[in-house]
Amino acid sequence: MHKIAVIPGDGTGPEVVAEGLKVLKAVSEKFKFKYQLEHYDLGGERYLKTKETLPVSVFNEFKKMDAIYLGAIGHPDVKPGILERGILLNIRFQLDQYINLRPVKLYPGVETPLRDKGPEDIDYIVVRENTEGAYIGAGGCLKKGTPDEVATQEAIHTRKGVERCIRYAFEYCVKRDKKKKVTLCGKTNVLTYAFDLWERVFNEVAKEYKGIATDYAHVDATCMWMVKNPEWFDVIVTDNMFGDIITDLAAMTQGGLGIAAGGNINPEGVSMFEPMGGSTPKYTGKGVVSPLAAISACQLMLEILGEEKAAAEVEKAIMKVVKQDIKSLTAGNMGHSTAEVGDLVVKSILAK
Ligand code: IPM
Ligand code: MN
Repeated sequence: MHKIAVIPGDGTGPEVVAEGLKVLKAVSEKFKFKYQLEHYDLGGERYLKTKETLPVSVFNEFKKMDAIYLGAIGHPDVKPGILERGILLNIRFQLDQYINLRPVKLYPGVETPLRDKGPEDIDYIVVRENTEGAYIGAGGCLKKGTPDEVATQEAIHTRKGVERCIRYAFEYCVKRDKKKKVTLCGKTNVLTYAFDLWERVFNEVAKEYKGIATDYAHVDATCMWMVKNPEWFDVIVTDNMFGDIITDLAAMTQGGLGIAAGGNINPEGVSMFEPMGGSTPKYTGKGVVSPLAAISACQLMLEILGEEKAAAEVEKAIMKVVKQDIKSLTAGNMGHSTAEVGDLVVKSILAK
């Protein structure tokens, strides 16, 4: 029995989560596994009413779950940072979800802005460190609002944090069994303390993985190659801030936020899965956004929960729907509503 906490969250989060849950129900029937859902109303509305982001009692319940399935966090009436730090980053940090896993895969039939690149070229995964670096909230400000204002925001990298992330990337590369290559994305030419640590640990860990090729690219060059030669990549490992930036670029090359999903993984604990697209307030309630990113997040959740066959089936259904059933992944241009696209995925799973 998988115990899953569901946080539909803000904006279009609830609409897309509903479709992910439809798909979960369908594959659970087909593959005969059991799960139990617990819904939580965390998000902007709750914060505006109660000033609560993540109450301790809720967090204590999360600790007992097998996974968390999240829609989106972000509300137009709440100052940026409050919900992101109070809910999303809080869960990531407190549950020690030290990996942010972002598959980048262009499915046949999906449009990419990369000219002359197809599904055979765009198939890699970014392993982003998820609990350290610039995200840690270290720093402060002095003389705020005056001409003498000073602000600092320090990035903290620990040996332990870097090593476990790099190890995860190599292990994932072995399991993935594709190009067998791990690329470290850093900035060793400027951030000479932080990425010296990353580079040394990377080279040390690499010695234990004889069958895996290694490569290094500065983050700016990584962005270039992701556009020019995405076929060079298999597994990219990087720090929190760089990982945040390059995965948005990567998402665009695989068809955009209507399809891109991610997992916040604690390999020894509770992981959380989310579509990459935010709460998109302007589309809220219209039933026009693609649920496929949320459905992909569900697929990733199934994979990590050990329901690999079910996960593969969900991916197959997503591939069928993007190739045969919908016009585009862009909000309002799918040729179907959010719920209809969810139904199409379910229909494909239940067929035959
Ligand atoms: C992401 C998001 C978050 C991040 C924000 C919402 C805090 O952009 O998951 O990539 O920066 O990690
Ligand atoms: Mn991001």
